[in-house]
Amino acid sequence: MGRPIRAEIDLDALRHNFGVAAGLAPHSQSMAVIKANAYGHGAVACASALAPLAPAFGIASIEEAVTLREAGIETPLLLLEGIFEPSELEWVDSLDLWQVVHSDWQIEALLAFTPRRALTVWLKLDSGMHRLGFSPQAFPERWQKLSRATDRVANLHLISHFASADQRDSALFDTQRAVIDTLSRALSAPICAANSPATLVKPASHGAWNRPGVMLYGVDPLQSPVTAVSLDALKPVMTLRSKLIAIQSVNGGETIGYGGRFRTPHATRIGVVAAGYGDGYDRHARDGTPVLVDGKRCRLAGRVSMDMLTVDLSEHPAARVGSDVTLWGHGLPVEEVAGHCDTIAYTLLTGVLPRVSRHYLQGSPGDTVAEREH
Ligand SMILES: Cc1ncc(COP(=O)(O)O)c(C=O)c1O
Repeated sequence: MGRPIRAEIDLDALRHNFGVAAGLAPHSQSMAVIKANAYGHGAVACASALAPLAPAFGIASIEEAVTLREAGIETPLLLLEGIFEPSELEWVDSLDLWQVVHSDWQIEALLAFTPRRALTVWLKLDSGMHRLGFSPQAFPERWQKLSRATDRVANLHLISHFASADQRDSALFDTQRAVIDTLSRALSAPICAANSPATLVKPASHGAWNRPGVMLYGVDPLQSPVTAVSLDALKPVMTLRSKLIAIQSVNGGETIGYGGRFRTPHATRIGVVAAGYGDGYDRHARDGTPVLVDGKRCRLAGRVSMDMLTVDLSEHPAARVGSDVTLWGHGLPVEEVAGHCDTIAYTLLTGVLPRVSRHYLQGSPGDTVAEREH
């Protein structure tokens, strides 16, 4: 019923991928990063699926924490950018949150606050990404300051972020790792630094904690032509599906869609799919971007509109109105689609808009349970 576009979320695949991340780092605790609505997959459903497995979740805001706590998620939640203003410490305290501390004003706010019980703090080291955190020179003094505040800070960790763990031979990565290791040794600080690419291929960077994100959703984050599916370790979690709602038979030499970008080389059947940039399908997708129609590879033809996109059905003469369309997911890696949009899989997944209903699948195909969350 209704517009046929939907995002199917395979929670078994999510759990499987978490198992891959945890298995690659048997001596680390794997914090599952579920910020940005679990990279577009639905934070509550993903947290519920992972709660029996994951020792903690990484999130981006108090708002995300409230949503999870209200849904009954009791797993520790780490605010990866910490608080955005001092008043948020009340929420940190009442929702029992963990927080990153990356700036002096956050330290001052913390030391001026009286929590119900001492808080868990992850002090951010800027090891070379130059986004958030204290420089290697400033870090030890801030560490000591928080270590002394035993009435306010119970557990202190060193957290840092890699800028280039996805590159095969990166001097920047090696430099960052050396900085992190040196400070960790000097301060006896437990490390949390490895994101997905580091979890996958840089075992020496695994710490007491790791922080995988995108790999949990089945995406290969490495800068290489192989995709997660071809690696055969990770399974795609989101499959974005829709249907053909019309077919046009167009003469050769005609143009299709806005701006007339695509011109038919000969008489061509053009399929119209109920999916557009108003759903989060990237308008930058080029002609030729793969789209599966009834499982057969077809090619995008013409600019993506708000609610529709058009495909060349030359490869699939049997396609008809109502044919199933896969925009990415099973059979069509999101990484591959992203490559045709000059972007990365992260942006496609997080960009699926709220009007696309999420359908949650788990169990064997015969007894698949589908819940809906918008
Ligand atoms: C601070 C932080 N930690 C961990 C992650 C997870 O990274 P990835 O999705 O590459 O595993 C991110 C991703 O944006 C992040 O910003």
